[in-house]
Amino acid sequence: MPLAQALAEVLEGSEEGLLLVDEDGVIRFASATALRHLDLRDGAVGCAVTECHADFRLVRMLAAAGSTDEVVERHWTSADRELSVRARGVSRPGRGVLVWVRNETRVRHLEKMRRDFISNVSHELRTPLAAMRVMAETLLAGALEDGPAAQEFVNRIGLEVEQMTQMVEELLELSALEGEQHPMPDEAVPVVDLLIAIDRLRPLIDEKQINLVFDVPDDIPPIRGDVAHLQHVLRNLVHNAVKFTSARGTITVAAATCDGTVELRCTDTGVGIRSDDLPRIFERFWKADSSRRRDGEGSGLGLAIARHVVAAHHGTIRVESEVGRGTTFVVALPAWIEVRSATA
Ligand SMILES: Nc1ncnc2c1ncn2[C@@H]1O[C@H](COP(=O)(O)OP(=O)(O)OP(=O)(O)O)[C@@H](O)[C@H]1O
Ligand SMILES: [Mg+2]
Repeated sequence: MPLAQALAEVLEGSEEGLLLVDEDGVIRFASATALRHLDLRDGAVGCAVTECHADFRLVRMLAAAGSTDEVVERHWTSADRELSVRARGVSRPGRGVLVWVRNETRVRHLEKMRRDFISNVSHELRTPLAAMRVMAETLLAGALEDGPAAQEFVNRIGLEVEQMTQMVEELLELSALEGEQHPMPDEAVPVVDLLIAIDRLRPLIDEKQINLVFDVPDDIPPIRGDVAHLQHVLRNLVHNAVKFTSARGTITVAAATCDGTVELRCTDTGVGIRSDDLPRIFERFWKADSSRRRDGEGSGLGLAIARHVVAAHHGTIRVESEVGRGTTFVVALPAWIEVRSATA
């Protein structure tokens, strides 16, 4: 293969685009990647940069690079892209400029996610820490001597610690779920074994006098999966239903089967979720404004965990909701028996 053709192929395969502009501002070479990133048309090679609708930031940068021996580096946003562009004057042919351009949209997006994550965690920790500091100071300032008040403050500190511990545990669980390569969990999990997980929420359900209804047919096949993880999903959904349903409301947990899939539904008669909030509810730390205002309502991690667990089971989770009427989460998971007979 001739060297020029080999070089052209290497450039085409590279994520970094390359552009060569001569001393008269005429584009002498442009890889397809450079044309794409810089929004230049295919016939741009042979044209002056100023005449082919090039971005004014590129034109300015070429002028800067042409008058220095240093590498000039710029970042800019173009259409939906975040570009990182480096340019350097070259002395052959003539006094031209060589430009490398890289699309950094994905990297920037990941950086933003990391920053958001850290600021979310810090925010979630700061609120209970501040509350605990105030309570400890109040105790030291004299409330220790007042038995009932002291008892109340210590109880509240205990609750804050419990919530922070829960958040840290959820975060560790999320990071374990995200880091693992998931083999498909392979136990036969009877649906009734999942319902047991709801028992832990009984005190909350009874306190709010919520009517909990089960609608699970006897002949429902087991689910193919991991019992502990699936119990966690159902507990998260029912816990949310309890939190966001007012006293004496109804929560229905139903199961049905269809085409090798077991569908679990958790329906409540609670506050509901606004339709423009629905696409965001599975994001880490996302909470509706109304729930954000309430203290001690959780960190917004439960549904993110549920989504990960369901995906690891090759299942789906979706939500239907109407403000003021209630919410239904639907989890569809592969049935164990159907999968076995299909692969037999
Ligand atoms: N059944 C529901 N009814 C109304 N809003 C809900 C319901 N389930 C979830 N939400 C909304 O979605 C948000 C995210 O739920 P998620 O379970 O992820 O977090 P959380 O319950 O706030 O905290 P955590 O689960 O970490 O204790 C909730 O804060 C709430 O605003
Ligand atoms: Mg929750």
